[in-house]
Amino acid sequence: MNNDKTINIGLMGLGVVGSGVLRIIHEKARVLALETDRNLRVKKILVREKAKVRDISVDAALLTNDPDEILDDPTISIVIELIGGVEPAYAYAKRAILAGKHLVTGNKDVMAVHGPELLRLANEKSVDVYFEASVGGGIPLIGSFRSDLVANEIREIYAIINGTTNYILTRMSREGAALTEVLPDAQRLGFAEADPTKDVEGIDAAYKLAILTSLAFRTEVDPADIPRTGIMQLEPADFRYAQDLGYVIKLLALARQENAAPQQSARYEASVYPALVPQTAPLASVDGVYNAVYVVGDLVGNVMFYGRGAGSEPTASAIVADVIDVAHNIISQVTNRIPYTIDSAKTMKPMDEVETRFYFRLWVADRPGVLAKIASICGTHRISIASVIQKEADPEEQTAEIVITTHDAYERAMQAALQDIAALDVVARVAGFLRIVDLGEPVRV
Ligand SMILES: NC(=O)c1ccc[n+]([C@@H]2O[C@H](COP(=O)([O-])OP(=O)(O)OC[C@H]3O[C@@H](n4cnc5c(N)ncnc54)[C@H](OP(=O)(O)O)[C@@H]3O)[C@@H](O)[C@H]2O)c1
Repeated sequence: MNNDKTINIGLMGLGVVGSGVLRIIHEKARVLALETDRNLRVKKILVREKAKVRDISVDAALLTNDPDEILDDPTISIVIELIGGVEPAYAYAKRAILAGKHLVTGNKDVMAVHGPELLRLANEKSVDVYFEASVGGGIPLIGSFRSDLVANEIREIYAIINGTTNYILTRMSREGAALTEVLPDAQRLGFAEADPTKDVEGIDAAYKLAILTSLAFRTEVDPADIPRTGIMQLEPADFRYAQDLGYVIKLLALARQENAAPQQSARYEASVYPALVPQTAPLASVDGVYNAVYVVGDLVGNVMFYGRGAGSEPTASAIVADVIDVAHNIISQVTNRIPYTIDSAKTMKPMDEVETRFYFRLWVADRPGVLAKIASICGTHRISIASVIQKEADPEEQTAEIVITTHDAYERAMQAALQDIAALDVVARVAGFLRIVDLGEPVRV
């Protein structure tokens, strides 16, 4: 293969994913050359610490800690960014595009916050930006939304896109354990970071949802605008009641579009919260560190993507596939083959206006008339109660635990009702509050 058949790659980052990518490019060199009719050559690798002992054997001459050796090298046409975080990754990504290089990244932080800007810039500079690995690791999501599902109006997305929290919730559900018992285990096994805030507070899921929603609904979603609730407040009792009611608890990242009149732009909701999901729903059986995204399109109906949302090889699989796509574009001398279209009139619906079902758990005085007071407050706020369970009582404290589920109600009404209920002298504590997502039912936005 002669030199003009070589595509030079600058790899930024040689950690979990970067080393997986390097390994695949070396081990599958023959197949990749057959696939692309080019020799894909990693010319330089940016790392923080050149002397670090690594799992992968790598020619020391390839390593650098000077990003200019990649960004200023005119022979490098593809930059793979896998250093993570917003800075300096965003600065490097932007410089790569401005220098006329194609960008492949697995960085959700950069794509969720700066994606639209980078994509516009890439369009101006006639280069490509690919980011399949930024959401759901090896699960083919970005490409599916961009091309395979493009004839659809995507109506709903329900996603389990954070493996750490799904692992924790699965263990809590199976073992009746408290979050404080399960989290250290998840950290020891490498499923949770030393600082798990981004996962357990739903921040990571909100970033990924921003990327998916932007693509699926053709809009620009700022992850900071996505209302989110994490999993820290969940107690073992909630899992027991969920099971009795026929549900499981999952941290859902969900987005739904309203039906809009023709010629009008639809509003959409996007949020992240732990929800009660029916045990019979396909998402209910997505356990452990697995991820899944359940999509409802107007033409295709229901589709579910399922697989490993993280890990060296699954994520590298997505990165290398993007590199192959870019190589095909280079060979065909095309860029931005599939445009990113934006309907700038689309707006996010305030959470207050979202309608859903609710579950709440209260410790109340164990005496007659309490339920009537709670029911009266719900009635005042036009919330209709679907079921009431009372199982536990504390004879010493003379309190009882009750769980109430509602029919569809507005978030604003539910929050106001909860405030009034918490203020009742017969209510000792609002111990649990969750939304119910009855997947499989007709769209109700
Ligand atoms: N891990 C996964 O399963 C997964 C899944 C999907 C997406 N992603 C995304 O993929 C990206 C990479 O993740 P990862 O898990 O591979 O990260 P990682 O294991 O922490 O590796 C990061 C790599 O980047 C290098 N690096 C970090 N900061 C740098 C800087 N300022 N200058 C030069 N080099 C720097 C590090 O160098 P040293 O080796 O010298 O420290 C290391 O090689 C992230 O955006 C992540 O969100 C990861």
